[in-house]
Amino acid sequence: MTTMLVKLNVIDRKGNKTVIESEEGTTIRDAIANKLTPNNYGNCGGDCICGSCQVHLSSDDFKKLKPADEDEAGTLESMSINATPNSRLGCQIKLTKDLDNITVTIAPD
Ligand code: FES
Repeated sequence: MTTMLVKLNVIDRKGNKTVIESEEGTTIRDAIANKLTPNNYGNCGGDCICGSCQVHLSSDDFKKLKPADEDEAGTLESMSINATPNSRLGCQIKLTKDLDNITVTIAPD
């Protein structure tokens, strides 16, 4: 079995774009943290507690994701800074091939 690489376009807090390729199944949080190591990003390590792995998506890309579960929605609401209707927690989204080439913007910290 070959491992599928999924492409993720990431816009950092300065507006710079980086393309990251990760193995299928990697979370958006891990893909970003491994490659770009932004400050104050994904602080809880992916446990859906800190809200700091927030990313913003376009409406089109947002629709490709499975809906957030209650845990994620609660953390986004209570912990993430300036969450928007198109915000998600990067640690709760696994990159699969149907998400290939989506674009996420790292939320302000
Ligand atoms: S890494 Fe902390 S909520 Fe996602």
